[in-house]
Amino acid sequence: MNATLARAEGSGRRNMNAMTLATVNRAGRPSTRTVLLKGLDAKGLVFFTDRRSGKGQDLAAVPYASASFYWEPIEAQARIDGRVVMLAQERAERDFSARPRAGQVMIRACAQSQPLKNKAALASAVASVEQDYPHEVPTPDFWSGYCLVPDFIEFWFGSRDRMHERVAYSQSPEGWNKTLLQP
Ligand SMILES: Cc1cc2nc3c(=O)[nH]c(=O)nc-3n(C[C@H](O)[C@H](O)[C@H](O)COP(=O)(O)O)c2cc1C
Repeated sequence: MNATLARAEGSGRRNMNAMTLATVNRAGRPSTRTVLLKGLDAKGLVFFTDRRSGKGQDLAAVPYASASFYWEPIEAQARIDGRVVMLAQERAERDFSARPRAGQVMIRACAQSQPLKNKAALASAVASVEQDYPHEVPTPDFWSGYCLVPDFIEFWFGSRDRMHERVAYSQSPEGWNKTLLQP
């Protein structure tokens, strides 16, 4: 995963860490959106969001997700399925404090995915956060880090002769099994 992501990022194109994240709600209805992969460690894929958002509510009810990347510059796709765990608040604080002030203010001013009356209402919420926190903006408690812990990973590598390569890794009690899949 790391090597393929690094190859995509080496293309110089922006947002190669943007992934489509699918969740399902309590009724089994799926939805997707883009989030940024902010960390890739031994446990899995780390991203951050507002816990009260649609995806946050889905994950509270059904803690599983599927993420996919399409890296056009290197003709590759990755799909990652697994369980999602919420990270310690300290991770969210680290992420939040590394963001530019304007981003911090916007996160604090919003209840992500709730209806907005009009743009003026958002501008006024932003102004009020600016006023409340003229110096440091504290991390709101609704800002959360999540880790998608994979139990299935699949790569697709495009080939000019259409012999696209698909490699799946699935987790079993003995470890990871590698299987080639028909394209
Ligand atoms: C390139 C890109 C990156 C994004 N990154 C994030 C992110 O890291 N976290 C986040 O909460 N929303 C991110 N968004 C916004 C989400 O796609 C989405 O609109 C928002 O999280 C609300 O989704 P939900 O209502 O399904 O929870 C990003 C959008 C784009 C286009």
